Amino acid sequence: MTPDFAALRRLFPILSRKTYLNSGSYAALADPVEAAFHAYLACRQQHGAAWDQWVMKNEAVRGQMARLLNASADEVAITASASAGINALASSIDFSGPRNTVVISDWEFPTNAQIWYAQERRGARVARAMPDAQGLIGPEAFAPLIDESTAIVAITQVCYLNGARLDVEAVAEMAHARGAKVMVDAYQAVGARHWDMAASKVDFLAGGMLKYLLGTAGIGFLYARTEAMAGLIPTQTGWFAQADIGAMDSTGNHPAPSARRFEAGTPPVPSTYAAEAGLELLLSIGTEAIQPRIEALTGQCMDRLAAMGWPAATPRDDARRGPTVAVPSRDPAGLVAALAARDIVTSWRAGNIRASFHFYNDESDIERFVAALADLKAAYAP
Ligand SMILES: Cc1ncc(COP(=O)(O)O)c(C=O)c1O
Repeated sequence: MTPDFAALRRLFPILSRKTYLNSGSYAALADPVEAAFHAYLACRQQHGAAWDQWVMKNEAVRGQMARLLNASADEVAITASASAGINALASSIDFSGPRNTVVISDWEFPTNAQIWYAQERRGARVARAMPDAQGLIGPEAFAPLIDESTAIVAITQVCYLNGARLDVEAVAEMAHARGAKVMVDAYQAVGARHWDMAASKVDFLAGGMLKYLLGTAGIGFLYARTEAMAGLIPTQTGWFAQADIGAMDSTGNHPAPSARRFEAGTPPVPSTYAAEAGLELLLSIGTEAIQPRIEALTGQCMDRLAAMGWPAATPRDDARRGPTVAVPSRDPAGLVAALAARDIVTSWRAGNIRASFHFYNDESDIERFVAALADLKAAYAP
């Protein structure tokens, strides 16, 4: 049954005031997420500290992430950010032997490049897959880079600059054939596209809750496949990563057998409230229904832009696109400001503005966005 997207849209009050095309920066705030923040404050007023309840909240979020990804809760670490999860994973990899290369792409969000370059001090070498003459990165770009020296291929699912999507499953197959592991930075798509870790070949998946997962800043996740994390002991750790948190044992490091070993300190309590509410809403709709809705909206937006004579920089092929439509401009900051003056919320990176879509957007948002761009074309088109 198709979800009632018109009714769901009404859960996001900002949508009655703004054309909100900025979920790739931060999700629109849903009523139940706002209520969850209030519930946290009410809990503080009532109990002061409610650690038992708060630890359970963190576990609830872990369970929800496991459901969303079709994984086991033991394969999910709840982290303070995507960076925190990637760092913990990187710290667990031994770069002192012959498998010391990390393969990234030219489309990485800075954090998923910087963290791997930081491992050069620990013996890592970083190789970078570059775009072809059309500006695209296909699986073939990785073929010459992945070999017996590759420890891990750490790549983004969707590029934050241009909205293009990598064929991460094809890359994962290639990496596994050469004995390497694969981590995907799914931040620009998780919640907007369906993930099924039981069917996927990806070993590790990192992301956070503030964009398409409808939650808030301050909380992220790292999925770690049971077989892939065997033998990996993070050196970036803390008391919440221990096998028995309650043991309070300061005489050694005893990492959890589960993905919890990639966690560190006190859970982000206020953020767990919001993340739980956001994930509950998302799971009630289902990413199987959300993905085609977003594909249709972004496709329609791109067709309208092309017809208007200002084509997007994002690939039109559904197989190569995420939830963001990137539009080139000679003055992207100026264009974002001009759109904001018309109550149209977008963002910009490098030479593009980004219109990112979630299930709560509809055709009326596309109409207003395209009409505004048609108006602004003379001043801002490339
Ligand atoms: C693809 C991608 N990775 C990582 C991040 C940042 O993650 P965090 O700040 O949670 O470490 C972002 C934020 O926009 C992103 O778009």
